[in-house]
Amino acid sequence: MTGGVTVLDHPLLRHKLTLLRDKYTPTAQFRQVAREISTLMAYEVLRDLPVEMVEIETPLETMRAERIPGKKLCIVSILRAGNGILEGMLDLVPSARVGHIGLYRDPATLQPVEYYLKLPSDVGERLVVLVDPMLATGHSAAAAASRLKQAGVTAMKFVCLLAAPEGIAAFTGAHPDVPVFTAAVDRELDSHGYIRPGLGDAGDRFYGTR
Ligand code: URA
Repeated sequence: MTGGVTVLDHPLLRHKLTLLRDKYTPTAQFRQVAREISTLMAYEVLRDLPVEMVEIETPLETMRAERIPGKKLCIVSILRAGNGILEGMLDLVPSARVGHIGLYRDPATLQPVEYYLKLPSDVGERLVVLVDPMLATGHSAAAAASRLKQAGVTAMKFVCLLAAPEGIAAFTGAHPDVPVFTAAVDRELDSHGYIRPGLGDAGDRFYGTR
């Protein structure tokens, strides 16, 4: 798979992203809008899914028609904020398998440490869509992608809502073979690791914590 960064900038996505960025958008609406954005993004991200021909009968005659073969997809959410965009993708591809990966940053080494991993046993046979709303430093996403490759994944795409230039550089440097899809690339990462102007802490905005 070839890498590269695709900014999905459909006007609907830009409008909905503005709602997410607005600090006055309440939690319930934030969740709903993020779900809608994820569905729209999934539509574009899965544009090159392979199809196979099958014979079917319409009410009038038999024909050969296209369908997406089974066992094709696995969406892997980086906990916890990845779950906020998982559901919107599943709305579009309800039969996709789902994996979860949990990582925390070791305070001493600042390196991501895995605390949870659950993947379908046949994950290596699937196209994996790795999701995390914010590509900030890129360290968690890069570690998650490395872990998935270790588990046998050979075809992967990474999807986020917002990316910092620093996160893109780190992720694509580590995984030049994994294409990145985002709804926007923001100005910068600040000294606290937040994307500016950004939308704040995505997990807190999804779940009303803070
Ligand atoms: N994670 C977030 O949730 N927000 C940021 O701005 C950066 C990382």
